[in-house]
Amino acid sequence: MAEFTLPKNSKVQKGKKYPAKADAKNVRTFRIYRWDPDDSANPRMDEYEIDLAACGPMVLDALIKIKNEVDSTLTFRRSCREGICGSCAMNIDGTNTLACTKAIGECKGDVKIHPLPSMPVVKDLVPDMTHFYAQYASIKPWIRTQSTPLPDQERLQSKEDRSKLDGLYECILCACCSTACPSYWWNSDRYLGPAILLQAYRWIADSRDEDTGARLDDLEDPFKLYRCHTIMNCARTCPKGLNPAKAIAEIKQLMVARQS
Ligand code: SF4
Ligand code: SF4
Ligand code: FES
Repeated sequence: MAEFTLPKNSKVQKGKKYPAKADAKNVRTFRIYRWDPDDSANPRMDEYEIDLAACGPMVLDALIKIKNEVDSTLTFRRSCREGICGSCAMNIDGTNTLACTKAIGECKGDVKIHPLPSMPVVKDLVPDMTHFYAQYASIKPWIRTQSTPLPDQERLQSKEDRSKLDGLYECILCACCSTACPSYWWNSDRYLGPAILLQAYRWIADSRDEDTGARLDDLEDPFKLYRCHTIMNCARTCPKGLNPAKAIAEIKQLMVARQS
C-alpha cells in the first residue's frame, strides 16, 4: 500500500495528550492531525487513548467516540457509516481510505490519522474539495444526447452494455485515489487525476451517451489526461477496489484508435 510520512522539516508539532480512564481495559492510542484556521498555531498531532472494550470496531467509531466523549472540537466529515457517501475519506496509517470501513484491528500500533494528502485543509481532518468538485463538473457527468427520445420510454441499454459500466459506476468520489497520485500532487491545477478520469470514462463507456467524440476532444490535452504515468497508487488505495488506471488506459486507447 502507498505510504505517506511527514517530511523532515514538517511544522506539525506534538500536541495534547488525552489519557484513558483508569479502569480502561484495552487501550489504543489514536494520533490525530489537528489544525484550526482560527488560531495562529502550527498543526499538531493530538494523542487520544481510547478503551477499545467500549468502542465500535471501525476507525470512524473511535473518532465519533472521541468527539462525543473526549474532545468535541475534533472535526471530520462523515455521513453514511457504510462506505457509500465517501465523506469520511482520510489517511489512516499511511493509506488513504474510508474511516467507516477501516477496522481498528487492521492498524498496527498507534493509529495515525491525517487528512487526505495534498488538498488544502479546512480544519483538522476536513479537506477542501472545491477544486476536485469543479474538475468533476468540468467533465459534464451526465448523459448527453442529440437524438430525440422515444415517447413514454426511457433510454434503454442491453445487459451486455450495462455490464461495461461495472467497475466504474461504483465510484463514490471519495478522492482517495486522486490524493494518492503523485502526478495529481504536482499537477492538480491541470491534471484531472484518477477519480475524475474514471468518471469521465464512465460516461464515455455508456452506450446511451451520444457525445463520445466531444468528451474525447475535451480530454485531448497534455495535462488533463496524459499526466498519468501508470504509477498505480490509485488502484492500490481505492477503498472500493476499483482500478482508475485501467479506465485511464482505456481512454488513451480510444484516443489512439480514433487517430488511426
Ligand atoms: S475510484 Fe475509488 S478511490 Fe477513486 S474516488 Fe472512486 S471510489 Fe474513491
Ligand atoms: S496510475 Fe496514473 S492516475 Fe493512477 S496513481 Fe499512477 S499516475 Fe496517478
Ligand atoms: S461515512 Fe460515508 S463512506 Fe464513510
